Amino acid sequence: MPASSSKIRSVLIGTGAYLPQRILTNRELAASLDSSDEWIRQRTGISQRHVSSDSETTTDLATRAAKQAMVNAGIRDPSQIDLVIVATTTPTDVFPATATMVQHFIGASGFAFDLQAVCSGFVYALSVADSLLQSGSAKTALVIGAENFTRLLDWTDRGTCVLFGDGAGAVIVRAEAGKGDQSDRGILTSFLHSDGSLRDILYTDGSPGARVKMEGKEVFRHATEKMAAVAEEALDSLGLQGSDLDWLVPHQANLRIIEAMAKKLNLPLSKVIVTVDKHANTSAASIPLALHAGFSDGRLKPGQLIMVEALGGGLTWGSAIIRL
Ligand code: UT7
Repeated sequence: MPASSSKIRSVLIGTGAYLPQRILTNRELAASLDSSDEWIRQRTGISQRHVSSDSETTTDLATRAAKQAMVNAGIRDPSQIDLVIVATTTPTDVFPATATMVQHFIGASGFAFDLQAVCSGFVYALSVADSLLQSGSAKTALVIGAENFTRLLDWTDRGTCVLFGDGAGAVIVRAEAGKGDQSDRGILTSFLHSDGSLRDILYTDGSPGARVKMEGKEVFRHATEKMAAVAEEALDSLGLQGSDLDWLVPHQANLRIIEAMAKKLNLPLSKVIVTVDKHANTSAASIPLALHAGFSDGRLKPGQLIMVEALGGGLTWGSAIIRL
């Protein structure tokens, strides 16, 4: 008799989101810039972004998204959550971690920490949460991507300020016993990479009031190459093809990058969750915001096979295949 190959799986049981009330349209932005609504739409697919008020902290955004995820996951006793990871580039304070504040505000137990991998932060955090659930260190993890990214922008730099927005998305993953094959619900595989030699094409230095610096074309080139490679790595590890996926839920930086990824995976754009038009690039928050959008309108359903993938400053990049 073959030994049982049962395996702990991190199953997604709820999502939540929060977007600040203030919407900044391309037209408003272009009024004070040498840019236009047409250029921004054509080159990025973005038509608007949400911007936090001065008093809204990353902790506030993350906590709101977390509370909605708890409701959607049917978690009434918050102490069931024994791990909180906040992926963020824009923590409320240098320390303590935004995640410990969220843990306090929602009444979670266990332990909490922030994770910094810029736009790949959510994929990194999901993968780390999966490892911690598999090792038995925690049972139910709240994984949040939350950013007040617009606070890092130079509003006179048209090459960067039109691209980003603020927001938070949250998912709750719970350890459940699976059979160890691809029919299991949960995170089936994930791959993470980084290359610090590419630091200079996308960074914010540590000086007071420092702002995002980016060589857009170079980042674009690396994004299409590296996300295609890490998507293939994940598919190959499971013996799958792009066409086996029900949905691609990619990082939302630029519609042209998203279209290139869909093409590489042989997926029509109708099988890709796209939010970049309404949210712009919310860095670590973009994928959980897109997941929540997909669940809320009924496109994403339990049992479906999806891929998440991202690339961000570092450079960092990664992918995961999840059965919902
Ligand atoms: O989340 C990960 C981080 N970020 C990304 O993944 C972003 C990756 N990069 C991109 O999305 C694109 O490279 C951009 C949207 C940033 C730029 O698009 P592009 O097609 O690569 O344009 P470009 O940088 O080659 O610029 C073309 C022209 C330039 O003018 P000249 O030199 O041809 O006269 C730019 O100065 O467009 C100009 N330009 C703009 N014009 C109007 C750049 N930004 C703007 C703007 N409005 N906002």
